[in-house]
Amino acid sequence: MRTVAVMNQKGGCGKTTISINLAAALAGIERKVLLVDLDPQSHASVGLGVRQSNLEFTSYELLMDPLVRVVDAQLPLADGLHIVPSSTVLSGVEQELADRMGREERLSNKLSQLADDAFDYVIIDCPPSVGLLTFNALISADEIIIPVDASYFSLHGLSKLRETIEVIEEELHRRLNVHIVCNNLDTRTHFSNELLQEIEKFHSAVLMDTFVSHTVRLKEAAAKGVSILDLDRQSKAARQFLLLARELIEKEAKIKTDDLGQWMEKLHGPQKVSEGVLFSLDVPQARSVAVTGEFSNWSKEGIPLEKDATDGCWKLVLDIRPGEYEYRFIVDGVWIRDPNNRDYIRNEFGQENSLLIV
Ligand SMILES: Nc1ncnc2c1ncn2[C@@H]1O[C@H](COP(=O)(O)OP(=O)(O)OP(=O)(O)O)[C@@H](O)[C@H]1O
Ligand SMILES: [Mg+2]
Repeated sequence: MRTVAVMNQKGGCGKTTISINLAAALAGIERKVLLVDLDPQSHASVGLGVRQSNLEFTSYELLMDPLVRVVDAQLPLADGLHIVPSSTVLSGVEQELADRMGREERLSNKLSQLADDAFDYVIIDCPPSVGLLTFNALISADEIIIPVDASYFSLHGLSKLRETIEVIEEELHRRLNVHIVCNNLDTRTHFSNELLQEIEKFHSAVLMDTFVSHTVRLKEAAAKGVSILDLDRQSKAARQFLLLARELIEKEAKIKTDDLGQWMEKLHGPQKVSEGVLFSLDVPQARSVAVTGEFSNWSKEGIPLEKDATDGCWKLVLDIRPGEYEYRFIVDGVWIRDPNNRDYIRNEFGQENSLLIV
């Protein structure tokens, strides 16, 4: 289970828009997702059509009542998507818990009661302030998404926010993976492009390749109480959120392969064997692995690899004519570059295609 807090103390930069639509996009590619609305404004709840009137439990009870568990407070929204809604009373939490011990760990304690496979992702929509609610989210989180919109103030607050996160990392004695997502960009304007360049200059290591463009369709979706995928799956914004979801999933693959450390250096891409080219990927826990690329006209399903019963490694030998090819693996429906191949280039979507020379 990966817990992602979506935070930025700057109001209106797109925390809720990203939380809602990223959660829906992850669910759309078959991940089990829990969205926790931790903002008393309840915009994530309203934006996904949750009526405020007859809610038995909300994130307020989840934080305040020791007997209320996540399973009691979660509401099903769609296949693979649940929400713990919020309510205005949540704004009282700060005062009500003022002198209580462990007040910053309330959410994390509740999330840790969940079975490991209950959800693949928990996405927490934070309020626009760094108070007790946001601390609860940070302490629960493995990762943080910081939405940055195309405004000077957004950029200004970014460095401060990253400093705050560093202080919290020191206190927690663990690293939080930070991802910056540019939102509300209009790449036709000089200002948006300048802002992107500034962020690339100072924060390139944590900047997501995928950004979210300015579009009225996101407002339209929120007003109708549905995600952009439900409003119009073919829209540019829906495609951007699906790409963002895939990029986030890919980041996990990267974190895992980074852990391989020194072994990575010794790994290599596809190998020439007598019958052709051997593709292999060591992901024994995967349910399906395929390869797609220029040699298969980038077919959506790809060509399936088979799991080797002895070493658990997925393998495929392909007879490919001599030439240069770009390719990607598809692991459980997620497109990734070959983590064993150090040769890759960026494709037109800003993602990485592996390179093969036969
Ligand atoms: N990419 C976008 N294109 C057009 N409008 C957007 C986009 N992203 C956000 N908005 C609009 O901007 C407004 C603020 O967005 P949102 O509520 O997601 O920000 P927020 O950071 O959650 O705000 P708050 O700090 O109040 O919680 C909303 O009306 C939303 O519909
Ligand atoms: Mg919000």
